[in-house]
Amino acid sequence: MRVLLFLSAILAAASVDGRTVSVFLQPVTQQIPPSFLAEIDYDLSSPSEPAAQVTGYEAPEISSNDDLVRVGLYDRSSGEWTSSTTVLSAENFSKGYSPHFILTTGPDGKEVLGVGCRGVRIDAGQTRDFGPQVIVQVTGKGKQVELNKPVILSPEGKKVVQEEKTFLQKYWWVLAIGVFLAVSSGGGDQK
Ligand SMILES: *[C@@H]1O[C@H](CO)[C@@H](O)[C@H](O)[C@H]1NC(C)=O
Repeated sequence: MRVLLFLSAILAAASVDGRTVSVFLQPVTQQIPPSFLAEIDYDLSSPSEPAAQVTGYEAPEISSNDDLVRVGLYDRSSGEWTSSTTVLSAENFSKGYSPHFILTTGPDGKEVLGVGCRGVRIDAGQTRDFGPQVIVQVTGKGKQVELNKPVILSPEGKKVVQEEKTFLQKYWWVLAIGVFLAVSSGGGDQK
């Protein structure tokens, strides 16, 4: 019994839908590699209330001649951006501002498609939530576009809505051939 409880606890822990991603920053005009900016944990196990938090942050050192920086998910080993990136002015990271991130994921929440970022002025009257913040947005499955579907217009130029043919209307001839074969071969087989 103990063992079972232990096992189910392990399974429960493994199935928690939490993920950690690393956000990097790179000055747009300089040929230097992106540097670590923030680590973000997110958990989409309750889709109505996706939870995320910034678990690590390193304020970037930006020299005065960098005016624009790029922010996104970056893979150090392959040297590639793995999400779409945001370009914003370096001022967003200056003193008195706190970065706010938006992660956009695909419908299953597994892949981060894009990272948005803005520096939000820290309001002196506001006593909490000074630190970097993040929200996660899960993009829904979009309605599929129907390609190559002819648009039919009535003589007055209005779009005519055509009813989809039913299965029987489309494939009655298959049934007819089937019936014909059954009847004719059935007759031939008789001894
Ligand atoms: C942050 O960057 C955007 C885009 O470059 C810019 O419009 C905005 O003014 C910047 N905000 C601050 C606080 O510098």
